[in-house]
Amino acid sequence: MPTDFIQDELEALKRQGLYRRLRRVEGEQGPTLIVDGREVLNFSSNNYLGLASHPALRKAAKEAIDRYGCGAVASRLISGNMTLHEELEEQIAKLKGTAAALVFNSGFQANVGIFSALVGEGDVIFSDALNHASIIDGCRLARARTVVYAHCDLARLEDELKKAPATGRRLIVTETLFSMDGDEAPLAEMVELAERYGAVIMVDEAHATGVFGPNGAGIVAQLGLGERVLVQMGTLGKALGGFGAYVAGSRPLRELLINRCRSFIFTTSLPPPVLAAAIAAVDLLYQEPQRRLALWHNCRALREGLRKLGFSLGESQSQILPLVIGDSERCMAFSERLLQKGVFAQGIRPPTVSEGTSRLRITLMATHTHEHLHRALRTFEEVRGEF
Ligand SMILES: Cc1ncc(COP(=O)(O)O)c(C=O)c1O
Repeated sequence: MPTDFIQDELEALKRQGLYRRLRRVEGEQGPTLIVDGREVLNFSSNNYLGLASHPALRKAAKEAIDRYGCGAVASRLISGNMTLHEELEEQIAKLKGTAAALVFNSGFQANVGIFSALVGEGDVIFSDALNHASIIDGCRLARARTVVYAHCDLARLEDELKKAPATGRRLIVTETLFSMDGDEAPLAEMVELAERYGAVIMVDEAHATGVFGPNGAGIVAQLGLGERVLVQMGTLGKALGGFGAYVAGSRPLRELLINRCRSFIFTTSLPPPVLAAAIAAVDLLYQEPQRRLALWHNCRALREGLRKLGFSLGESQSQILPLVIGDSERCMAFSERLLQKGVFAQGIRPPTVSEGTSRLRITLMATHTHEHLHRALRTFEEVRGEF
């Protein structure tokens, strides 16, 4: 049968220990969660500041529905450019300290479209080996040559920049806080390299937005590099508790993306309640700085607790703790056993991470309590004993 390949593919994934299934989550997103019918501690969410269920976001979303309805029902360039889109963009530009910002429907959509708008045949993209799948796909679509350099390796990046042809554009792309390892790119040095070798820089601040920098503006703002980074992309669906994404940068960059970025042009724009929730979330970054402090406190406590138990967490100094187990089947079994005992720490395996580096990706929230952390540590210790 011509359709047999589907079953064959699924069987192959099962044999390789790479088969995935969806877990059903009930109720609201918080430090505890009902997963497959059971309440567990949630260490698997990007709701870093706990804003997803914040009363201000709920209220803003409800009011926007009453005032504007549920959908924008057209693309931005047709009739879907509502006042809320522009209000959110002005607010993001102010937060990031850039001249302009442009809202996208998701981080994935932003990343798959930005590269083709900026580079093409004859140009070179330099991409960190651990960059997110959406960046990898965006590079492929751009038809520029993509050179992948070893993770955060400045010497390799410089070598590649030296080897690149003298003609054509050069674009370096990196996450500022890496999503699966929780480590930071050496951004200040990368900016210097870019300037020395005539390249421009694009950063993905998906996991740094809301968490790092002044008022949660991100790592570029923390390092004062805003003027020297061409594209600052980030998401609204992680620490900001809602959905969507943005690019912050210059006014001409915004105009070029409006004109050239296919994933911006050919899609229905974000709906009013999502925009209103994002606006409320950015306001909260200024109004509730204690959330960032609570998150940092929790990061330190869990990191130190896990290290004391002998777990290795790589280079992470952030809210993302990678507890590398290695083998994918063993990693998934460890994660499953934790879940049975009431702790949800998702196992991550290839192709999301490279072969032999399967890990539990433990993420913290501002709203985890001391008791939550204590219970989690006890459970990690018990499950490790069983393995
Ligand atoms: C580094 C990074 N970039 C982009 C994305 C995609 O963003 P979104 O979830 O808004 O599509 C993600 C995660 O989903 C991410 O981790």
